[in-house]
Amino acid sequence: MLEKIESLMHDYVNEVDSYATILYTKIPPGKRLRAKLILKIAGETESSEKLAAIVELIHAASLLHDDVIDEAITRRGIPSINATYDSKTAVMLGDILYSKAFFELNTFPTFIAQTISDAVTKLSAGELLDVEYSKEIQFDEEKYFDMIYKKTAVLIEATASSAAALAGKDEEAFALYGKNLGLAFQIIDDVLDITSDEQTLGKPALADFKEGKTTLPYIYMYQSVNKENQKKLVSLYQKELDVDDKVWIKTKMQESGAIMKAIGLATKLGEEALKAIEDDKNEALEKVITDMIEREF
Ligand code: FPP
Ligand code: MG
Repeated sequence: MLEKIESLMHDYVNEVDSYATILYTKIPPGKRLRAKLILKIAGETESSEKLAAIVELIHAASLLHDDVIDEAITRRGIPSINATYDSKTAVMLGDILYSKAFFELNTFPTFIAQTISDAVTKLSAGELLDVEYSKEIQFDEEKYFDMIYKKTAVLIEATASSAAALAGKDEEAFALYGKNLGLAFQIIDDVLDITSDEQTLGKPALADFKEGKTTLPYIYMYQSVNKENQKKLVSLYQKELDVDDKVWIKTKMQESGAIMKAIGLATKLGEEALKAIEDDKNEALEKVITDMIEREF
């Protein structure tokens, strides 16, 4: 099912430039969550496959830029493009991927073209917020949710409602499904940064706090530990963590119930996603939610 999407993406890049294609083939595909979502909502048609390739090119572009911004040296288990080549190459490859994606997006009806392009603007605003909030520690839940909505959920929301539009289904219901799925997805991502390891994740573990990101588990942990532990947590912010620090964070995250609470919220959001599409619910869309919550990377 995904081979068609892979070949479309490859062909689109190849229509632009042969060197860009060589660079592009060095990016591992990832989970292709957004493509799967489109195909499961709209079925496997020429338009849905094209839309899936477009959205995945946009997502790949955003990760190329994100790795430059985060100075990340690994992505999907191998060195990132910015690490293998340099930041300039990663930025320009990202520009090629997303501008070609937008060119192809122009062939779709206005509702879909506007929904996806509006989401990409919000995505960029979300990344800007992420950068801003990473400068100093902040335990504000509202800011966290606003940021992850824009950074992650908006594109999944737009993807699901566009796929619904293609299939003549209820766009609003699927938008809500996508939004809740996207929020839950980012919360699980933030949990896995703490509970998983580098090999499973394909990128360094416990990297968020060092990068300045006070994610939901850190907010919950701060809310439930005593003053002394709050002070210790704050002292580790943006620091290179040694083995003892890592063990301390992982232990307190579990003991304080922060991890359980974050997973509980992601599960609730998953249930709300399914409630939104009650009339159109099918096993494949239910499986998207359970796979996402139970995933290991
Ligand atoms: C990963 O977050 C980043 C995103 C989901 C969005 C990045 C968006 C941009 C850079 C805006 C530019 C958009 C385009 C189309 C060029 P993360 O750093 O929390 O996750 P990670 O640990 O996987 O890096
Ligand atoms: Mg990043």
